[in-house]
Amino acid sequence: MTRQDSIAVVTTDSPPVNALSVHVRNGLKSAIEDADRDDSVEAVVVICNGRTFFAGADITELGKPPLSPDLPEVLAAIEKSAKPVIAAIHGTALGGGLELALACHYRIAVPSARVGLPEVKLGLLPGASGTQRLPRLIDPGEALDLMISGDPVDAEKALRTGMIDTLAEGQSLEADAVAFAKRIVGDAKPLRRIRDMPAKTPDALTPAEFAEAYRERNARKLRNFRAPDEIIRCVEAAMTLPFDEGLAIERKLFRELLDDPQSAAMRYAFFAERKAAKVPGVEGKPDISRIRSIGIVGAGTMGTGIGMAFVNAGYPVTIVETQQAALDRGLANIRRTYERSAQRGSLTPEEAERRTALFFGRLELEALSDCDLIVEAAFEEMSVKTEVFFALDRIAKPSAILATNTSYLDIDRIAATTSRPQSVLGMHFFSPANIMRLVEIVRGEKTDLEIVGTAMALARAIGKVGVVVGVCHGFVGNRMLEKRQDEADRLILEGATPWAVDRVLYDFGLPMGPFAMADLAGLDLGWTREASTGETVRDRLCESERRGQKTGAGYYDYGENRKSDPSPLVEEIIRDVAKARGIARREISDEEILDRLLLPMINEGANILEEGKALRASDIDVIWINGYGWPAYRGGPMFHAEQVGLDKVVERLRALEAAHGGRFRPAALLQRLAAEGSSLTDDT
Ligand code: 3HC
Repeated sequence: MTRQDSIAVVTTDSPPVNALSVHVRNGLKSAIEDADRDDSVEAVVVICNGRTFFAGADITELGKPPLSPDLPEVLAAIEKSAKPVIAAIHGTALGGGLELALACHYRIAVPSARVGLPEVKLGLLPGASGTQRLPRLIDPGEALDLMISGDPVDAEKALRTGMIDTLAEGQSLEADAVAFAKRIVGDAKPLRRIRDMPAKTPDALTPAEFAEAYRERNARKLRNFRAPDEIIRCVEAAMTLPFDEGLAIERKLFRELLDDPQSAAMRYAFFAERKAAKVPGVEGKPDISRIRSIGIVGAGTMGTGIGMAFVNAGYPVTIVETQQAALDRGLANIRRTYERSAQRGSLTPEEAERRTALFFGRLELEALSDCDLIVEAAFEEMSVKTEVFFALDRIAKPSAILATNTSYLDIDRIAATTSRPQSVLGMHFFSPANIMRLVEIVRGEKTDLEIVGTAMALARAIGKVGVVVGVCHGFVGNRMLEKRQDEADRLILEGATPWAVDRVLYDFGLPMGPFAMADLAGLDLGWTREASTGETVRDRLCESERRGQKTGAGYYDYGENRKSDPSPLVEEIIRDVAKARGIARREISDEEILDRLLLPMINEGANILEEGKALRASDIDVIWINGYGWPAYRGGPMFHAEQVGLDKVVERLRALEAAHGGRFRPAALLQRLAAEGSSLTDDT
């Protein structure tokens, strides 16, 4: 604690993010009590050193026996203080950090600050009075949006909604906060204790109706997921009960959520994502300042999506196509995407225009000679890729990184067509690449580690989650997906309907099942009439012009608004194909469907680990959460395997092997770990 005249400045310095660990809580509580006792102190400023205001409770302490003083106790001491306490916010005030700021009597923030309650992303609710204080301070709908999305808002929005009182526009936040504190003292402003304010209530609805309407509006997004429902209950309590009673409900539900497997899974996922960023052998932070311009080969869906991902982060992008018409189509798609963002209000029209203008369309690869990173997103065929890389090798500057966005092909073969395989790697984006967070960073046999580190850092710089994987067919994600798809195709021939298969996965928490996904992507991807044998369901569907949503029919029939209906015709086709192949049909339980879809994926994940194609089991989970919509509250397929129990996974695989053959044979790694009673994810 230091002094600026009559203002006490309580500074916390606990790198990296000033998490509210027990020693921070202790220090804060005693500093506030000291200031309260000291008659010469007229107001207190709470501020942090380093890159951010408190980023929340210390997540490593969650789930362990509580250490005193707990956060609510510290916050109560702050709010009770007889002198105005002012939170001075920079960086990100998140979770318990924002809750602490709300326990202060006033809040000042630098314009670049962001505030939020991301607990929901850990399967929790704001458990240090956030659910009770925020709806007393701002509109309850806005409060719920903040708590249920978990996404932070910028200082300008925080000011507009009333979460902060003023912006610090000067050079020094501390000086501005002290001046603000002096004004409060000088004007004899009252202590604004949020606990004493009445909760705001929605205009036309009772709190119960408001809560119900919110639940209904978000039902699809929030299905199966416990924390949002409890957050809504807490906010309803804030609107109907005295502060302390609401607080008791919040406390009880917070503790319940903390013990819930959903939160354990999401806390695991939080650390898994951070672990994935660490590449063994890459020390320190790679310098990405040398990467200034990006080249993209191919203006199709992937090329334009990848281009937008870079442009969104401020990089200029030169995009090359072979034909003017294809280039025009790609650039028009880009323009349309940005225009739609402007119409939706997520970008200003000027920003949409600025981003569109950061694209330079060209028809010759030579235009990429100055680019620092070139991402090839051309047609998925080895001869096309090798031709492009052969040419790029002659065109690109020596320091350029050459990346391919291939989903399946052998990167070592592609690299071998160049004189610089050490600079070649895979950057496998997921569609739509401007939205999906995952990038598999594929390290070839000869790729330089420094290049891998730079690609990982670049992925992070454009807001993506990079995960290092090795070269194999489909890398990690698609290699596992293929196992699931193969089993889904078998299941429908054996008697399950496509809609039953899709429903089981949807109920498990995935955004959609394999058949709905195939309809969305188009069944004729890679299909040609000439090569069609008519022996698979897909061949038959494509032959009868049922090529997915785009043709109004695929596995499903599509009506108004792309609403899907099961198709009796498809059932007939499936029965025909099964008969032609001599496959006996039977009733298949949901339990069997789920086992047969998930266990082969887990098994393949274990093979991938054993082969060293993924560095850690948790990396596989990060891939599935961020690239394939695996619900974070189930932690990822490998975490899920641990939850089920590796011994049970092996036992069920063995039973399936006995019934259906060798493709279910448990991976050696799984057998070994199950026999030892050890874990897939512990070592990570
Ligand atoms: N507790 C413990 N460690 C934390 C932490 C936290 N709340 N937040 C971040 N860290 C650690 C990370 O694990 C990482 O450690 P590492 O270097 O050993 O891998 C380090 O701090 C830096 O984190 P990032 O790599 O994520 O750094 P960024 O600069 O990219 O992001 C951040 C900073 C925006 C603060 C981001 O770390 C973040 O979102 N943190 C989580 C915030 C959060 O969820 N807070 C709510 C906690 S729950 C809570 O408050 C409950 C309360 O309601 C009772």
